Formats: sequence, C-alpha cells, structure tokens
Amino acid sequence: MSADPPIDWPALRKAAVDVMQRAYAPYSRFPVGAAGLVDDGRIVVGCNVENAAYGVGLCAECGLVSALHASGGGRLVAVACVGGDGEPLMPCGRCRQLLWENGGPECLLETARGVIPMTVVLPDAFDAQDLG
Ligand code: THU
Repeated sequence: MSADPPIDWPALRKAAVDVMQRAYAPYSRFPVGAAGLVDDGRIVVGCNVENAAYGVGLCAECGLVSALHASGGGRLVAVACVGGDGEPLMPCGRCRQLLWENGGPECLLETARGVIPMTVVLPDAFDAQDLG
C-alpha cells in the first residue's frame, strides 16, 4: 500500500489564478478562479460567469464542478479558490455545498488561515446520507 502523493498547493493556486483571469465578471468586477485536484491526479478549473440578469450568474466553483464531471468525474481531494488579487477566497455558502457533494468531508481547501478540511468549511453538512 502506498501513501497518496503530497498535494502541490502552489500548482493548484496557479491554476486558480490562471482561470481567474478568464472570468466574465463585467457587473461585479470581482473575478474568481477555482481549481480542484481530482483523485486521479488531474486538475479541473472554473471561473465565475456573470449575466445581465444578475441572479443567474455562475460562481467559479460551479464551473469547476461542471468541468469535473464533463472531464470524467471523480472526487475532489483539494481545492484552491482565489479572488482578483490571487489570494485565497472563501467559497460562498452554496459553493461550499457543491464542494462537499463532490469532495466530501476529507477534501481540503486552501484558505487565508491555512489548509482546512471541508468539515471545518461546512460543519454538520447536509448530504446524500441525510436522504436515507
Ligand atoms: N463568486 C464566486 O465565483 N465564488 C464564490 O464562492 C463567491 C462569489 C462570484 C460571484 C460573482 O460573480 C462575484 O463573485 C461577486 O459576488
């Protein structure tokens, strides 16, 4: 049995910064990029995509989750989200739920106060187990 390879956080952050630069955020002028390491080693990314009908804008994490499934599925093991300054950004509540669904309790998130698990990002999360 071999241990999982260490997570290359700088590479994950760079992927998030790169995709942040492709955000479509003409209304908020608040670009966001998100990158996720999948359990098979690939990296999936997403950026926020806004809309003139403000409420239908898509968060960066929505794009990331769509890219995860579109490129073959799997589980997220580590995620980095950044704002326009390239620094870690805490996902909004809805996106914490999306990350939980696709990464579960052990998925790690890079934050301004260090790397934390999803159990800290979204305590007492609702998930499929609650559906019985
Ligand atoms: N945004 C994200 O993309 N992800 C988050 O977790 C927080 C907010 C986007 C939505 C909107 O386009 C902009 O940031 C300002 O709220």
